[in-house]
Amino acid sequence: MHVTITVNGRQRTEDVEPRLLLAHFLRDVCGLTATNIGCDSTSCGACTVIVDGLTVKSCTVLAVQSEGAQVTTCEGLAAPDGTLHPVQEAFRTEHGLQCGFCTPGMVMASIGVLADNPDPTDREVREGLEGNLCRCTGYHNIVRAVRTAAQAGPSAGRVPQTQ
Ligand code: FES
Ligand code: FES
Repeated sequence: MHVTITVNGRQRTEDVEPRLLLAHFLRDVCGLTATNIGCDSTSCGACTVIVDGLTVKSCTVLAVQSEGAQVTTCEGLAAPDGTLHPVQEAFRTEHGLQCGFCTPGMVMASIGVLADNPDPTDREVREGLEGNLCRCTGYHNIVRAVRTAAQAGPSAGRVPQTQ
C-alpha cells in the first residue's frame, strides 16, 4: 500500500506492507533508529513517538494508520543548530539516562506529560510515565529531569513548529 507520512518535517511516500508497524516504518524505512523496540507488545514505551500532537506507542500502530499524519521522533527535537529540546537538555543535565535504551521513548513521553501538565509534581510525572519502563531503573533522575524541563516553560511540552 502507498502511505504518505510527514516524519520530522519531511514528507515521505512509501510502498509498505499493510502489516508494517509504524515503529518498523520509522526504523527500517526512514532509518530513524532512536525509536527503539523493547517489547513489540505495548508494554515498555521504548517506541513512543508523537503523532499529531499525541504520544503514541508506535508498536501499536500500523504505518498505514498514520496516513497523512505528522510524526515526530526523538531525532526531530533538536534545533538545526544542535540546540537540544528542553526535555533532552534536562535529561542530559540531570543524568536521566543510563544505558539509554528507554531514553528516546522517555523523552517523547515526557514531552506529552508536560504538554498536559506544565508543572507536574513528582507523583504526576511518575503517573504520566507509567507506560514507560526503564530496565536500568533510573526513575529518580528521570523524574527530576522532567521537573527541571518544566522550568523552561511551555516549550518543554511542545515539539518544534516545523514538524
Ligand atoms: Fe512499543 Fe514496547 S516496543 S511499547
Ligand atoms: Fe537503560 Fe532506561 S536507561 S533502560
